[in-house]
Amino acid sequence: MNTQENVKRFEELLNQVEREGLAQLLEYIREKSDFYTAPASTRFHLSTEGGLLQHSLNVYDCLQAKKENSTWACILEDAGKDALILCPLLHDLCKTHFYKIDFKNQKTYDPEKVKAAERWQVKKDNAGAFIWESVPCYTVDDRVPYGHGEKSVMMIEQFMRLTGPERFAIRWHMGFSEPKELHLQLTQAMSKYPLILALHEADQEASTLLEGEKGNKVLTKAQADAGEKPWGGDGGSGCDFQEAEPLGGAED
Ligand SMILES: [Fe+2]
Ligand SMILES: [Fe+2]
Repeated sequence: MNTQENVKRFEELLNQVEREGLAQLLEYIREKSDFYTAPASTRFHLSTEGGLLQHSLNVYDCLQAKKENSTWACILEDAGKDALILCPLLHDLCKTHFYKIDFKNQKTYDPEKVKAAERWQVKKDNAGAFIWESVPCYTVDDRVPYGHGEKSVMMIEQFMRLTGPERFAIRWHMGFSEPKELHLQLTQAMSKYPLILALHEADQEASTLLEGEKGNKVLTKAQADAGEKPWGGDGGSGCDFQEAEPLGGAED
C-alpha cells in the first residue's frame, strides 16, 4: 500500500469535481483530519495505517467497474460523473477521528523472543512455548458520535452541498447492515435512488473481496494459475455437503 500515491490519486479524483466548498473540504481532510492515516476497520479489513484511504479508492474502483454492467450502465450514467467520485471517496468520512491506537496482549511463539524471556514468562500450550506480548491495535473511540452514513453526510455538508441522490447514497451505504427496523425505509430509499445499492455493493465488494487485514489481497501469477481466488476461498469446492457420498439404498 503506497499511501503517498493514494493521497495523490484521491486528491486528483476529487479535484475533477467542480463544487463550491470542495477545496475547503479537501483542506480539512488533509490538514485537520486523520483520514489519510486512519485504518478502515479495527480488524476486519485494512486494519492498518492508510487503510481508510485505500478502502475509499477501492470502493471508487468497484463502483466505476459497475459501468460495464448493462444493468447498472444507465443508472450510473444518470447519477453523473461527480456522484461516482464523491460517493465512494467520501462515504466513510465518518471514520475520521474514530479510531485510536491501543494495546492488547497477544501470544507470541517467536523462538528468539521465547528464548530471551525470563523463565517465569514462558508458558506452554498445544502450539508450543510462548510468551505474552503487548502489541498495538486499533480500537474505536468515536469522538463525534453521530451515526455512520449520516455522520459522513453531516461532515461533508459542513463544507459542501451534496445533491439528493449523493446524500441518500452516502447516508444508506451500509445497506442491510442497518438495524432491521430501518429496512423498510432503506428499501424505499433504494428504489427511489438506486445509487444507494450500487454504492453499497461496491463497498461490500471492496471490503470482502479485495481487502485483507493489512493490505489489498493480491495473487501471484502462480496462485492465480493454481486456481486460487483472491479472497483465499475455494469457490465452495471444498464444501462437505457437496462432496458427501449419497446414502446407500436410495438409487434412482
Ligand atoms: Fe461505511
Ligand atoms: Fe466503506
